[in-house]
Amino acid sequence: MAVNILIIGSGGREHALAWKLKRSPLAGRIYAAPGSEGMRACARPVPMGALEFDKIADFCAGGDIGLCVIGPEEPLAKGLADHLAAKGVKVFGPRRQAAMLEASKQLAKEFMRRNYIPTAGFQSHYDPASAKEAVRATKKWPLVVKADGLAAGKGVRVCPDEASALSAVEDFMEKRIFGSSGARVVLEEFLEGREASVMALCDGKDFVMLPVARDHKRLRDGDEGPNTGGMGAVAPVDLDAETLEKVRVDILGRFVEGLKKEKIPYCGVIFAGLMLSKDGPKALEFNVRFGDPETQTVLPLLKSDLLAHMLACAEGRLAGERPELHAGACATVVLAAAGYPDSPATGAEIRGLDRVPAGAEVFHAGTAADGGRLKVSGGRVLGVSARGADLAGALRLAYRAAAAISFDGAQYRRDIGKEN
Ligand code: AMP
Ligand code: GLY
Repeated sequence: MAVNILIIGSGGREHALAWKLKRSPLAGRIYAAPGSEGMRACARPVPMGALEFDKIADFCAGGDIGLCVIGPEEPLAKGLADHLAAKGVKVFGPRRQAAMLEASKQLAKEFMRRNYIPTAGFQSHYDPASAKEAVRATKKWPLVVKADGLAAGKGVRVCPDEASALSAVEDFMEKRIFGSSGARVVLEEFLEGREASVMALCDGKDFVMLPVARDHKRLRDGDEGPNTGGMGAVAPVDLDAETLEKVRVDILGRFVEGLKKEKIPYCGVIFAGLMLSKDGPKALEFNVRFGDPETQTVLPLLKSDLLAHMLACAEGRLAGERPELHAGACATVVLAAAGYPDSPATGAEIRGLDRVPAGAEVFHAGTAADGGRLKVSGGRVLGVSARGADLAGALRLAYRAAAAISFDGAQYRRDIGKEN
């Protein structure tokens, strides 16, 4: 029997999820809440916010939804999976208890320490005076200062000296620029190396790793300019066998062992942000959801049926699943609005989507339909993904597609996939 699906979220990640799920022979109707017009070819938008738990539960019951896939972290951290599970809805996305491993950096670091997951040394502080004292006692610079709670990716500062670390503590804990997310801070040892991200599907007992990806967080070429939600990504990242095995066993494996030991149920994606340091790979953070834009890069490489894998996770039988991958590589180039990330300009008309070369996929993130036209409605507007026999081929096609699209003030990096 076909499985009707509800996807929670409206970004490029959710569009990519809908695109991949639609290719499943098991899939029935696919909805997205709130979704977007740009993803209509894959999922029908339903006007409900990700935090309208009762509405979502009613929709699942009324629409005969066989699987609800939760994209963003906020509804997870606020307990949407718990709410739906209590009403008998099958959910792909962990419950609140596990989501706290993303929503509190302190809980995450303590979990990592207890479970021997390689990570940067740290201490946490509950009051600004003790945090400042620790900053003044610091001998090794830079120091990384992190607001404990969710801060839309902006709660981490790499501080080169005492003055900048003290001002980070003041901003987070005293001025509360991220509200209660700054009630506690984590001070962390600075790790050097290249970053990478890895996602794994997990049913709480077993996990399967997807190809390792790398995103580009800075706005401009050469890793310059402000941090963004991600300007592009590539996969797979070429890791040597020993490093890959450490990621699998010491990072993801110990994470799942920790969940089991601590009796934390888990169904969803484990996303590990990695630092490939000279002492081996270390976990910078864990997210409890698909990454954005990594999902737009990794899902095109998955040959097997994502819906089958997700259902296996929700039913606790992932051990029998064997995900298959396409050979080659995938690259995603994000087209952002003028003024992104600080003050994205909306309203520009988007042209050229009909000229995108065959084989490239365009995932909508910040677009809105206006009459017969498509307009910019958010900071990251579109993500263009393409596969190739190798990374160079994937990048060529993704850039040809990006060049076909135009809107006033469009900005995108020309060096996705390059080593900076
Ligand atoms: P997080 O949200 O904890 O992953 O941090 C966001 C970004 O800050 C990471 O992607 C890194 O670029 C940087 N970062 C975080 N922690 C560290 C660390 N201990 N050493 C070096 N860079 C870090
Ligand atoms: N691309 C990083 C994230 O989704 O958090």
